[in-house]
Amino acid sequence: MRHLHTRTTRGRLLATLTALVFTASLAAPAVAVDHASPPAPALADGLALTPPMGFNNWNSTHCRAEFDESMVKGIADLFVEKGLKDAGYEYVNLDDCWALPQRDADGKLVPDPVRFPGGIAAVADYVHAKGLKLGIYTSAGTKTCNSAGFPGALGHEYSDAQQFADWGVDYLKYDNCNNQGVDAKLRYTTMRDALRAAAEKTGRPIVYSICEWGENKPWEWAADVGHLWRTTGDISDNWSSVLSILKQNLPLAPYAGPGHWNDPDMLEVGNGGMTDTEYRSHFSMWAVMAAPLLIGTDLRQASDATLEILGNREVIAVDQDPLGRQGTVVSSEGGRWVVAKEMKDGSRAVALFNESGTAQRIATTAEAVGLPGATAYTLRDLWQHRSYHTAGTISATVPAHGTVLVRVSADRRWAAHPPAAELGIDGSPLLRAGAPATLTTAFTDLGRTSARRVSVALSGPEGWTVRAASPTAAGAVAPGRSLRTRWSVTVPQGTPTGSYELTLRATYRSPDGTRAGGVLPLAVSVVVPPPSGTSALGDLPWLSATNGWGPVERDTSNGESAAGDGGPITVGGTVYDDGLGVHAESSVAYYTGGACETVTADVGLDDEKGTAGTVAFEIRADDALAASTGVLTNAMPAQPLTADVTGAEVVRLVVTDGGDGIDSDHADWAQARLTC
Ligand code: GLA
Repeated sequence: MRHLHTRTTRGRLLATLTALVFTASLAAPAVAVDHASPPAPALADGLALTPPMGFNNWNSTHCRAEFDESMVKGIADLFVEKGLKDAGYEYVNLDDCWALPQRDADGKLVPDPVRFPGGIAAVADYVHAKGLKLGIYTSAGTKTCNSAGFPGALGHEYSDAQQFADWGVDYLKYDNCNNQGVDAKLRYTTMRDALRAAAEKTGRPIVYSICEWGENKPWEWAADVGHLWRTTGDISDNWSSVLSILKQNLPLAPYAGPGHWNDPDMLEVGNGGMTDTEYRSHFSMWAVMAAPLLIGTDLRQASDATLEILGNREVIAVDQDPLGRQGTVVSSEGGRWVVAKEMKDGSRAVALFNESGTAQRIATTAEAVGLPGATAYTLRDLWQHRSYHTAGTISATVPAHGTVLVRVSADRRWAAHPPAAELGIDGSPLLRAGAPATLTTAFTDLGRTSARRVSVALSGPEGWTVRAASPTAAGAVAPGRSLRTRWSVTVPQGTPTGSYELTLRATYRSPDGTRAGGVLPLAVSVVVPPPSGTSALGDLPWLSATNGWGPVERDTSNGESAAGDGGPITVGGTVYDDGLGVHAESSVAYYTGGACETVTADVGLDDEKGTAGTVAFEIRADDALAASTGVLTNAMPAQPLTADVTGAEVVRLVVTDGGDGIDSDHADWAQARLTC
């Protein structure tokens, strides 16, 4: 208490000293907020003009004991030492579990003395001394979200806000648990007003982060309530979570802007549940969506790769662009996404994002992403940190779950950069162990000038034989032309089925002699011939699988999140022993090697979703449609589906959303059989 008292006194002193300045700076905004001018204006307080950047402990610690004062101070230290502060990270935020479950006799919040022995004000002082800011958390309910029952601010808004302000807090995340059914707009607006009143007394403005998980469409009403609002449920450290949040947040682009941001939740980069390729995609897409960048990993244990991702200033510059646009979807088909963000300097940040589990070519043009006509464009690769020029095509073979992020501008100095080159491979290679296979790669000049002294090389895993069967070099490759090379690749006998990596490397020079190069990791599948006779598809290995929610399940329905969380496959009251349980949009591919004849299944929507959901089923033989249902609803019994797949190399079981989005689309391929 003595400590608190000291802070309060100091807070008042500070308030007196800064009152003049603060009042002056608030004068104009106060007027702007008062008059009602549609559309809803942002909070005109000059805060969060670019998406907030910083740290929050939740994703790495949840409520565990390692969340304490020394962690928070350690993060602040590392922000400075590792250059993250210079890169723009500013807020060091405490999430749930910082308080004791009981308020004190005066109704005040009490910091947990084990986690924060010096209190919150001391942590704020420490963080401020480093030129950083401190954030805190509570809920717009009677208690926070943790089951230990920490106090929430519902009914205590003004005194809690004042306490935060007195401690020197600069940012509040305001959660939604235990809200007692009180109207969200009312709850969140009350805290806005409480924070404003408290900040007016202390002279320290507070960024206000609304965390009601998108339940009440805050993007429609919160622009003048908070500086950012969560648009979805909680993120977790896996690919399907990132993907599902991305898909929910992308359509909300029109609602974001300076001082009012969509918040697709904090970063998972570095937490171990995804590959670095996936983390780069996560970070790239959050930047293109102008999302708040709150690091969610314990930086004291971060790898160099994690620090490199989080510290990529060219990607951060996309996120922090002062124009404040959230990127919009230019095209999306077959898991190939092009998302473009208009930048203040007229350039476009363009993400070529591959949602799928196999490498895909993703292509767009300068015109399609909104750039004006020009002879050529400068194209900056924001992960390679290299500049090229392009005549207009923006394309790449993007690895599974990968993102190529470029910044493209109609820039008269394009000729200062070498032509961009696209590296690619024909088809998706399926290799049988022991048998030589031919692969064809291509080096394509996307620029306005020739690529000179072009040379390509392909390498494979240890023990594989890779031989060029046609030229690997060219004196010059003209604009728009390709150097195509055939390779003979032999996989050693006994190599197990699975995905393996080949690497295609290219070196070349621009006309003035500048060296350039490219590297393309190529995932190839080693396959085994399908068994002859009739097999249950629920038992066979698949080549690749994509799914709208959670993983594809063998012999159960799709439970939406983790593997094995489905129930018995049940359609129209009939329970089936085997099959596949998927969630639209879904595609499961099997290698059939030209040796199979038919696929049969009883297909329908699983009963577990009541009457919701509509889907359509398709069976594809290579790229041709071999069988399909129309749109099916949950009211229908299972439909028998038979496809002639004679001669196909690959058969795909596809489920689309029936045209109405993927909600509740739990689709079953009951008793799916393949005859070869
Ligand atoms: C909710 C929020 C999370 C986190 C926890 C803490 O789930 O959405 O971001 O703050 O509460 O309990």
